[in-house]
Amino acid sequence: MGVAFVRGPLRAILTAGVFVSAFSGMAAAQTASSAEDARAIEFGKEIYKTKARCQFCHKWDGSGDQGYGGNALSLRVTQLTPDQVATTVKCGRPATEMPYHDKFAYTDKRCYGMTAADAGDSKPQIGNEFLQAREIDAVVAYLFARVVGKGPATYEDCLDFWGKDTQQCEPMKK
Ligand code: HEC
Repeated sequence: MGVAFVRGPLRAILTAGVFVSAFSGMAAAQTASSAEDARAIEFGKEIYKTKARCQFCHKWDGSGDQGYGGNALSLRVTQLTPDQVATTVKCGRPATEMPYHDKFAYTDKRCYGMTAADAGDSKPQIGNEFLQAREIDAVVAYLFARVVGKGPATYEDCLDFWGKDTQQCEPMKK
């Protein structure tokens, strides 16, 4: 009876110990993956801003623009899925000003089943720079974390994008 009395609490302590370590393991894994996500989002933002210059046509906040680059649609209200956005970035959009960023687009049939010959005059322009798959994934991660479906951009979004207060942020300052 004495033994059973000791065993019960001991087992409970051991079990609790296992739970605690399993739980802290989970928490550590979660922290690691959200740190990775945060890095991918920052990386994607740089590509959007600097390397691919998506902001040239879609504006810094992705709200879209008319003018240079045609009628660049709003990425804030796009109905596209992440896969469809990735395809649009890789392949551009035929017969519009949306450029392609996959080095091999239209050299084979990877884009909408079309080679350059198939696309003819509707073949999109080449983007500012070619992007690798992981760079495209990062832009998509950035867009879906910060832009798509997020409503109008705020002053804080503007500071975050530019890393400082700029003229672009003036209209949103309260
Ligand atoms: C030279 C100007 C230009 C650049 C640079 C540009 N886009 Fe576009 N983009 C456009 C235009 C114009 C459209 C509209 C095409 C149409 O009419 O269907 C568009 C459409 C899109 C769409 C489709 C939206 C929808 O709802 O159908 C996505 C997604 C997109 N662009 C993302 C990007 C990303 C990400 C980058 C940077 C990697 C980028 N664009 C760079 C001009 C540009």
